[in-house]
Amino acid sequence: MSSEHGGAIHSVLIENRSFPPSAEFASRARVGSIEEYERLWTRAKDDPEGFWGEIAACLTWSKPWSRVLDWQPPHARWFVDATLNAAENCVDRHCVGANRNKAAIIWEGEPGDRRVLRYQDLERETAKLANVLKRFGVRPGDVVAIYMPLVPEAVVAMLACARIGAPHTVVFGGFSAEALAGRIQDCGAKVLLTADGGWRRGKIVPLKEQADLALATCPTVENVIVYQRTAHKVGFEPGRDHWWHEVTAEASPDCPPVAVDSEHPLFILYTSGSTGKPKGILHTTGGYLVGCHATTGWVFDLRDDDTYFCTADIGWITGHSYVVYGPLARGATVVLYEGAPNWPDEARFWKIIEDYRVSILYTAPTAIRAFMKWGEQYPLRHDLSSLRLLGTVGEPINPEAWIWYQRVIGGGRCPIVDTWWQTETGAIMISPLPGATPTVPGSATRPLPGVVPEIVTKDGKPVPVGHGGLLVIKQPWPAMLRTLHGDDDRYRATYWSEIDGCYFTGDGARRDENGNYWILGRVDDVLNVAGHRLSTMEIESALVSHARVAEAAVVGRPDDIRGQAIVAFVTLESGQSPSEAVRQELRAHVVKEIGALARPDDIRFSESLPKTRSGKIMRRLLRDVAAGRETVGDTSTIEDFSVLARLRSDDEV
Ligand code: WTA
Repeated sequence: MSSEHGGAIHSVLIENRSFPPSAEFASRARVGSIEEYERLWTRAKDDPEGFWGEIAACLTWSKPWSRVLDWQPPHARWFVDATLNAAENCVDRHCVGANRNKAAIIWEGEPGDRRVLRYQDLERETAKLANVLKRFGVRPGDVVAIYMPLVPEAVVAMLACARIGAPHTVVFGGFSAEALAGRIQDCGAKVLLTADGGWRRGKIVPLKEQADLALATCPTVENVIVYQRTAHKVGFEPGRDHWWHEVTAEASPDCPPVAVDSEHPLFILYTSGSTGKPKGILHTTGGYLVGCHATTGWVFDLRDDDTYFCTADIGWITGHSYVVYGPLARGATVVLYEGAPNWPDEARFWKIIEDYRVSILYTAPTAIRAFMKWGEQYPLRHDLSSLRLLGTVGEPINPEAWIWYQRVIGGGRCPIVDTWWQTETGAIMISPLPGATPTVPGSATRPLPGVVPEIVTKDGKPVPVGHGGLLVIKQPWPAMLRTLHGDDDRYRATYWSEIDGCYFTGDGARRDENGNYWILGRVDDVLNVAGHRLSTMEIESALVSHARVAEAAVVGRPDDIRGQAIVAFVTLESGQSPSEAVRQELRAHVVKEIGALARPDDIRFSESLPKTRSGKIMRRLLRDVAAGRETVGDTSTIEDFSVLARLRSDDEV
């Protein structure tokens, strides 16, 4: 981590509005008062094993555990010796009794096509695909890669893997061939599940084309199963490629779930870190599923009659934990939408909510800010009275957006849960409980039961109330990552070496006198663009891999809608001159290397970059330049001060 911020983070946001839960919501909520929450939290802190042992009874286990937790820092094993199957917990167990005909997934494609999969349909489809995977030689422990649009089959794909104990790695469909290839190579996937394409803003996302490019450098992939979504013409390699509808048509719908060890890997999900290539976050089965199940109940107060809509793609952790594993483990009805929120117009989400009588909406601050910009007229066109709870995730939500969300979307009656967590934490960590916690716009409020955070200085000393510092977690929790795939040293170095004995989140935070937590954003070189983590380092490597580029530094600049915009400072090779054409070429190059989500908003050319005497690029200064701010910090170590003056004046070519 770069420690330019150290432990001293200046926090300027002061927010005094507070919204207690309504008596009506509290009366039927699982946790109905702040006292009850505090009792739960204290109990979990004092006796984590007793607490989680009781909570874990919510799942169906094939064999009970001998111990709840084996903690050999920094490695945890939860529900030691127990066995279970995640797909059985998310599907099969709901297929006995009345819920078998309940809608598991209500899906809407971007062009307007609709499908409903009942729990029994989900069981049948999952079992068939699992049999196909077995036929292609997938054994427990073999990794399967998934690169799909948001169709029900993407969920089927994840659950089919879980059914046979094959860890999945889902790669977001917006990533490029290069990004897909890097991930497949890292985890050595044997099979790729993909589609011909998906729909986004009326256009085809050419998934198969990207997959073909990626597979040229992925020798471990022996078979590719292609779901037909767009039905446009795609390349097909006989022997390697198979149409999903053909292979599953022949498959038996009978495939008993494999009981795996509680610590058997459920999935690897890649996320950006501040250095090096993306990190393969490894989650295992028992603890992760207990965490998802418990938090879905506490935070969303999810009930049998809810219709729950989470707008995340399954390519992100939010899609894993709160589209698939959490809600389905609870037998909920999940609404899934394939496309863009502004297609065919800006009212699409509101129409979906009206059409399906959605009761819980979980989305991201960046989306809320876009809705605000588009205007109230779109939500006002639709009946949103079915909503009873709203959630946000991905970045700090500014109080203005929070209030707008509450007033315009929630009609002033829905509690808002601002949920702080990470790919690494697997499940929500800090969030209001909607029937218990008074909410404060902009604060994720209180830690969930079983989560023991602290805010500390770089030396690990707790900071006083009201001061900013580094957010750490002091006790292990069931859904925590277990390691980084293939790189346990990096796991130790990234999360367990910064602050002695604690899990280091990489976020800054402040706690106020009421015990509420305020997340202040990343303290390392990770950007948060539209709620997605991007490493400045990866974008820099993509830029430097272009023949014209000698050196690059990437920083974030505050952006009204997306939280942060990407600004790249680029030094060209000698003999190259800056121009608009080169700028476009570099943008396109980053899109090709990583994907459109990493496209730099600004590229500024500079003959040199500000560096310390030891040669480290001073990003803090570049952040100030990018934001058009005066440099306030310490510049005493800067090597060539004139660089900074030039950067400010030569903004544009
Ligand atoms: C940020 C997403 C403030 C934070 C689930 C974290 C948030 C990173 C919030 C993880 C929130 C997420 N308030 N910041 N409610 N939720 N973050 O791994 O910086 O994609 O470390 O997981 O997003 O991003 P990730």
